[in-house]
Amino acid sequence: MTTFVRVCGLSELEEDTPRRVELDGTPVSVVQTGGEVFAINDICSHANVSLSEGEVEDCQIECWLHGSSFDLRTGKPSGLPATRPVPVYPVKIEGDDVFVSLTQES
Ligand code: FES
Repeated sequence: MTTFVRVCGLSELEEDTPRRVELDGTPVSVVQTGGEVFAINDICSHANVSLSEGEVEDCQIECWLHGSSFDLRTGKPSGLPATRPVPVYPVKIEGDDVFVSLTQES
């Protein structure tokens, strides 16, 4: 079963500005870009670096340390040094509430 948990208000999200939240101890970066909201695990798959401190462009979030970008839709890295994807999670919007589910990775 997919369990959605409210993580923040839609109006709290700024376009292309990641917001770090914690869900059951898992750090998640919530990003609004291009009219959509995405949730991606906040830890880079290359090293223990917070992706929410990086920049968002073209539906990708860039790790500030070595520059790998991860697709917000799939979590896949677009280039080295990261080779493994970062988990992404389903997002649901209801009114001004943003919900994320960790129980089903998309
Ligand atoms: S720590 Fe993210 S690319 Fe190296």
